[in-house]
Amino acid sequence: MIVIPGPASVELGKAVAKKLGLEAYPVEHKIFSDGESKIRITVPVKDEHVVLVQTTAPDPDRKFMQLLMMARTAKDFGAERVTALVPYLAYARQDKRFLEGEALTFDVALTLLESVGIDDLVVVDIHNEEVTKELQSSHRIKVHPVSAIPAIATYLKENGYDGAYSLSPDIGRKDIVSKASKIMGGGFAFFEKVRDLHTGKTTMIIKELEMKGKKAVVFDDIISSGGTMARAIKGLKDQGADLVAAVCTHALFMPGAEKKLKAAGTDLILTADTVETSYSKVSIAGLLADTVKQL
Ligand code: R5P
Repeated sequence: MIVIPGPASVELGKAVAKKLGLEAYPVEHKIFSDGESKIRITVPVKDEHVVLVQTTAPDPDRKFMQLLMMARTAKDFGAERVTALVPYLAYARQDKRFLEGEALTFDVALTLLESVGIDDLVVVDIHNEEVTKELQSSHRIKVHPVSAIPAIATYLKENGYDGAYSLSPDIGRKDIVSKASKIMGGGFAFFEKVRDLHTGKTTMIIKELEMKGKKAVVFDDIISSGGTMARAIKGLKDQGADLVAAVCTHALFMPGAEKKLKAAGTDLILTADTVETSYSKVSIAGLLADTVKQL
């Protein structure tokens, strides 16, 4: 087995290789002045099981393209099998068509990934596991969804949030909070997010909860603009919650996101390292290494 970190996940790739007791061979890469990427695999891969590590944010189009280039090149040079560890898989959120003519981007992404020869795809906290299973059945590529939530909840339990209430901003993330609540205790609930399919504007239905003096953690798969998380945090603070943490797996953090979270009264921001930020206190390297061992 040969572990090859892509330009987006050099440190994570090295950490995964270390957990597997292997050396990592990051690709050589450069960005041309017109924005295109050049990739070179620096180790012989003939007849090997190649494990690529490449997240796809920030800058999803470029990072996705780099991943495609890495996989195709590994197969061109004779790799027997290619496994892609893609901690954050861009384009997985649009996994249903809501309006006529909309691109089903998750399906497009899977089609591209299998077309370049990826046999197995490991993704962390994919937007919707059920839909992933359904879509997977019409593809050759095998998708292995894994979750960073148990590791994140364990970290929280050991760092001041033992017994905290787990809350999801949307019913779609109910599985996340039920997993977290099993580890932290404290119970769970969810608010509801309603989206206008034409404008994309969302509104949140805040349920009444007994929050006075309690600690709570709001979990989401992604924080992007920070709007969803900020509304949920404010909903809990307005109901008297004492300490509230804003927690996600994938920290996309668009400009202004942190400001929104802090303005809403967030006491702690915590994320996994599927996308590296200064809040990535929980590493998924061990989870990815263990998953690869079982493939
Ligand atoms: C949406 O369905 C996701 O689960 C997240 O809630 C969403 O991506 C967060 O986006 P934002 O931070 O822009 O509100």
